[in-house]
Amino acid sequence: MRNIVITGASRGIGKATVLALAQPGVAFFLTGRDTKALEQVASEAHAKGARVEILAGDLRETSYLQRLVQRIEAWASSLDAVILNAGVARVQPILETSLEDYDLQMDVNVRAAFYLARHLALKIRSYGLLLFVGSIAGHRVFPHWGVYCATKHALRALATTFRIELKPRKVRVTLISPGAVDTDLWQGIPDPRRETMLMAEDIARWIRYALEEPNRVDVEEVVLTPTER
Ligand SMILES: NC(=O)c1ccc[n+]([C@@H]2O[C@H](COP(=O)([O-])OP(=O)(O)OC[C@H]3O[C@@H](n4cnc5c(N)ncnc54)[C@H](OP(=O)(O)O)[C@@H]3O)[C@@H](O)[C@H]2O)c1
Repeated sequence: MRNIVITGASRGIGKATVLALAQPGVAFFLTGRDTKALEQVASEAHAKGARVEILAGDLRETSYLQRLVQRIEAWASSLDAVILNAGVARVQPILETSLEDYDLQMDVNVRAAFYLARHLALKIRSYGLLLFVGSIAGHRVFPHWGVYCATKHALRALATTFRIELKPRKVRVTLISPGAVDTDLWQGIPDPRRETMLMAEDIARWIRYALEEPNRVDVEEVVLTPTER
């Protein structure tokens, strides 16, 4: 059985990744806040032969993070992959950005990813995978995306640190950094060119690729940008 943890699995890139990886012999532990949406993803994965466990909750809450780690530890004796995908974006000029929106993005995109990676890395088997979904915003800075960019720059630094420090344990660490992807993350953000964006399935395909490479290959980073943007 291949045991895979995916955060932010209720929609977008997380959901597409579940469906790209679902097959007999795979067991998922999935998170998100929307229980109904998670149950729908679970039933689609189940129909493809995978086993699925879910624990819904808010990644901003320390008590949920602790419960999640405990539940995952009880769920599997070792993990094949931990995919830290959940994320949120708030887009506004930096001078209009509230402390609440700063905290929200930092807590979900960085703090929760740090906490889960720090605890679950110990459970990842040799040659297993710790994968972070970063962003092109971890490489470049875009006006009005300042705090989001700061979170993805921080995540990139953390991913690099985990990669260096987990090398002796033979755990592979991948950072996937997409440009614009047509998902609910863009809800309420004016962008007239949704049709030029990547699709969630494009990212999922590369996550599957990182997972299925031979043990000797450590896919350090993948940057994917839309051809037409
Ligand atoms: N879309 C893009 O253009 C793009 C580009 C580069 C990188 N990314 C990154 O890709 C990742 C996935 O984003 P997406 O585009 O697939 O967005 P999405 O469709 O909005 O999905 C975000 C996921 O994160 C979960 N999530 C958000 N806040 C949460 C919270 N407080 N507690 C628990 N779960 C939470 C959501 O679950 P619930 O809704 O159930 O709470 C959902 O499953 C993010 O890290 C994002 O930064 C996206």
